Amino acid sequence: MTIAVLGGAGYIGSHTVKYLRAAGIPLAVYDNFSTGFRESLPDSPELPVVSGDIGDAERLAHFLRQHQITAVLHLAALSVVAESFDNPRRYYHNNFVATQTLLDTLLTCDIRQLVFSSTCAIYGKPRQLPLTEEHPCQPDSPYGCSKLAVEHLLADYARAYGLRYVSLRYFNASGADPDGELGERHQPETHLIPLLLERVRQQQNGLNPPPFTIFGDDYPTPDGTCIRDYVHVWDLAQAHQLALDYVHAGGASNIFNLGQGQGYSVREVIQMAEAVTGEPIPVAIAPRRSGDTPVLYGSGAKAAELLGWRPAYTDLHSILTSAWRWHRQ
Ligand code: UFG
Repeated sequence: MTIAVLGGAGYIGSHTVKYLRAAGIPLAVYDNFSTGFRESLPDSPELPVVSGDIGDAERLAHFLRQHQITAVLHLAALSVVAESFDNPRRYYHNNFVATQTLLDTLLTCDIRQLVFSSTCAIYGKPRQLPLTEEHPCQPDSPYGCSKLAVEHLLADYARAYGLRYVSLRYFNASGADPDGELGERHQPETHLIPLLLERVRQQQNGLNPPPFTIFGDDYPTPDGTCIRDYVHVWDLAQAHQLALDYVHAGGASNIFNLGQGQGYSVREVIQMAEAVTGEPIPVAIAPRRSGDTPVLYGSGAKAAELLGWRPAYTDLHSILTSAWRWHRQ
C-alpha cells in the first residue's frame, strides 16, 4: 500500500512527504523538478524518487505499477496567479491537460483514490466571507480557471468511472516545518512572506536592499492592502493524511477548504515580520498586481467536521516564527 506523491519536491509536497513519512506511510515521489527541488527530499532507500512529468502517460504508468501505488496525492502544478496571466497556455497545459492524462493513466492502472491540490483562487471575488465550499466559483485568473476545470473533470470522472477523490482548496500556504529543515522556496520567489524574510536577512547581513514593495494600498480594506488567510504548511500536510484516511475509509468524493477563517492584510504581515525578526522593514507602494483579489479568507469548518482537521498554527505570529527560523539558517 504505497502512496504516490506527484509534485512531492515542491513547497507543500515536500512538507507533506516529511509529515507522512513521520506517520509511517510508505511513499513514492514523482516530480518533473520544474519548480521543485531534489534537495527538499531525503535520500533514503525507503523513498523512491522518480523524475517524470504527469503528462507523460507511459513513464507515469510504469512508476505507478513499479511501486504498486494504491492512492495518489496530486500536488504537481504551477501556482503563481500573476504568471498565469502572462502564460495561460503553460498553465492550462500543465494544470489541466496533463491532469487529464494523469487521471486516464490512473484508470488504466486501476487506481481510483486521489487527493487533489485545489485552491481558494477558484472562487473569484467573494460575495460572502468567510468563503465556504458552497460559494460560487468564478475564478478571475487563468490559474484559478485551470484548477476549477480539474475539479469539473474530477466530478465527471467520479460519476462515470468510480474515481473517489478529495479536493483540498488551500488558502495561502506559509511557514516551515517544525524542525526548520524545510521551508518556503520558489524560483523566482514571488510570495509575500519569503520575500519579506529574505529582505530582512539581507539587511542583517549588511546589504542595503531596496524598500519592500507593497502591490497596491488602495484596496477596499481597512488599511488599503490585500487580506489573505495564511495556513501553515504543516497543517496542510496534516490535512493530506486526513484526506487519505477519508478516501481509504470509503468516504464519498468531497471538496474541503483549508482556511483558518481569518485574514491578515499585507501591512499586518509586514508588522508581524518586523516583530518576529526585530528589524524595521521599509516599504514602497507600487501599483496593484494583476489577479490580486482584495480579500480572501475561508472557513475550514467542513474539513474540521468531516476530516477532523485541527490546525496547530492558528495565529500569524507562530507562522512567521517558524518561517523565520528556517530563513535565518
Ligand atoms: N505582495 C506584495 N508584495 C510582494 C509580494 C506579495 O505586496 O512582493 C502581496 C500580494 O499583492 C498579495 C499578498 O501579498 O496581496 C499575498 O501574495 P502572495 O504572492 O504571497 O500570495 P497570493 O495570494 O498571490 O497567492 C497564493 C498562492 C496561489 C493561490 C493564492 C490564493 O501562491 O497559488 O494564494 O490567494 F492561488
